Amino acid sequence: NKITIIGAGNVGATAAHWAASKELGDIVLVDIAEGVPQGKALDLMEAAPVEGFDSIVIGTNNYEDTADSDVIVITAGLARKPGMTREDLVQMNSKIIASVTKEAVKYSPEAYIVVVTNPLDVMCKVALDASGFPKHRVMGQSGVLDSARFRTFIARELNISFEDVSAFVLGGHGDEMVPLVRYSYAGGIPIETLIPKDRLDAIVERTRKGGAEIVNLLKTGSAFFAPSSSTIQMVEAILKDKKRILPTAAYLEGEYGQDGIYLGVPAIIGGNGIEKIIEIELTEVEKQALQKSADMVRETSKAL
Ligand code: NAI
Repeated sequence: NKITIIGAGNVGATAAHWAASKELGDIVLVDIAEGVPQGKALDLMEAAPVEGFDSIVIGTNNYEDTADSDVIVITAGLARKPGMTREDLVQMNSKIIASVTKEAVKYSPEAYIVVVTNPLDVMCKVALDASGFPKHRVMGQSGVLDSARFRTFIARELNISFEDVSAFVLGGHGDEMVPLVRYSYAGGIPIETLIPKDRLDAIVERTRKGGAEIVNLLKTGSAFFAPSSSTIQMVEAILKDKKRILPTAAYLEGEYGQDGIYLGVPAIIGGNGIEKIIEIELTEVEKQALQKSADMVRETSKAL
């Protein structure tokens, strides 16, 4: 397998690290900064003898080196600074996403694309249009991360293993995301029966603001360990045809009452990319929350 990661910054380089350590394939790191992808790739590959992975990792400024990739991960762009919303990024990043997508698909016309750059849902649409690919081959990472944050907070609240918590988040990758308490479990037990309502409300709120919490702590950048790990989980599901149900930013044409936008929904991710969008029953309150989140994505795309 061959994985191209565009943008060798915090998210891109750390994604390369997770992918190499899982031996998902050979990795090409691309960036406009000269020397940076080359240096990080070489540094990572030099860990191979110690860690025992056999992935070739190269860094480049040239898209020819990405030819025939199976998956293209797009992390190029600018990250949020304190006080900056994801929406502020829209104009700057859309130009970058359109140009890197066009370059990459020239050399890998059969690839699957996983977009990470923010504002996520809008950038997915930019990549879909720029690639000319069918919608099942262009998806975005947001929900795996948002759900991972939700799961982390639930596990810490209950002081139980992280692995035992399954939970997920619907909607756009913004403060209006919809953590679905009703579909969240710890060891198969509904969390609503384990955590008092006020504590759960606080966890939901913290999940929604999970990205900002880290931006405010770091001051000079945004989260990257969990975002890159979440991205590689999607890449792995595609490359290994795992058919995992993952919350995925998918292009909706009628599902969940939405049309013509990307939004986070549960989907089966496997060797054919987004193989199926799963529609679940929502309560009126959940529907309204999802609509609000969709409205936010539409509002952001107006900045294009
Ligand atoms: P970063 O600033 O560390 O890295 C971005 C890299 O992109 C830099 O190395 C830069 O040189 C490169 N770049 C810029 N223009 C380029 C171009 N035209 N071609 C190739 N490379 C180019 O930023 P970081 O922390 O890695 O974040 C990357 C993006 O991912 C941001 O937009 C951020 O908001 C987003 N993000 C999304 C998450 C999600 O859940 N979807 C979570 C975390 C970050």
